[in-house]
Amino acid sequence: MKKPIGVFDSGYGGLTILADLQKKLPEYDFLYLGDNARAPYGSRSFDVVYEFTLQAVEFLFSQGCELIILACNTASAKALRTIQQNYLPTIEAHKRVLGVIRPTSEIIGSITQTKHIGILATEGTIKSDSYRLEIEKFFPEIEISQKACPMWVPLIENQVYYQLGGKWFIEQDVMKLLAKDKAIDTLLLGCTHYPIVAEIIKEIVGEDIAVITQGEIIANSLSDYLDRHASLAAMCTKNGETYYFTTETSHDFDKKAAAFLHRPIQSKHVVIR
Ligand code: DGL
Repeated sequence: MKKPIGVFDSGYGGLTILADLQKKLPEYDFLYLGDNARAPYGSRSFDVVYEFTLQAVEFLFSQGCELIILACNTASAKALRTIQQNYLPTIEAHKRVLGVIRPTSEIIGSITQTKHIGILATEGTIKSDSYRLEIEKFFPEIEISQKACPMWVPLIENQVYYQLGGKWFIEQDVMKLLAKDKAIDTLLLGCTHYPIVAEIIKEIVGEDIAVITQGEIIANSLSDYLDRHASLAAMCTKNGETYYFTTETSHDFDKKAAAFLHRPIQSKHVVIR
């Protein structure tokens, strides 16, 4: 049986993480699931994000995954801990679900020089305050300012972020965040959709502010994790293949996913509940 590493996001955003996982760990098999029919998750309640994420995790385990990455900050913020504490102990002991907030928090404090960072993310991630809580554990001296950007995921998923109106929303949110703290020198894009608009943000903030995306951070962290967990790593199959599943129609997914990955892919439609 194939045992790919599961990669989950509410929609297309996790593809920005998957691309770096494939680059860093080309020998591994991956199974990507986008819950496109129910995205975005960003403004949904804790209970709903937990329920949807748990359904996704159960689906990925049913497909043979032993290890799952929630390549979605919103799901990592709102569902990961409860899944790790309440759900995983009820199934086979070696199976693991990992998120993207902790590995990012471990690194972000070593990038800033001024010790002032800004975070842009979905409403759910910002309201959970997960980044502040995690970053404080590793870098208690760092000043954190945050801004929720509820318009960005719809702009990105509908591919209208480069139009004048789309750019206007992005600029407004970035400027509001920077106005909170003039000493910010590092801007974390704390949503896996946002790398798609990273170039637009770089143009807005200029060269003095570093714009940080998560793909490479998560890929390095997973590679490290697999080195430290040799028996789990040995269970994952390694044919260099990736399988794509979406809860929306596969035609739509294939078209938009190609824009995220810059290459054609073929997905399968799946119903999860
Ligand atoms: N890509 C997801 C994240 O990293 C969220 C997108 C959504 O709102 O569904 O937070």
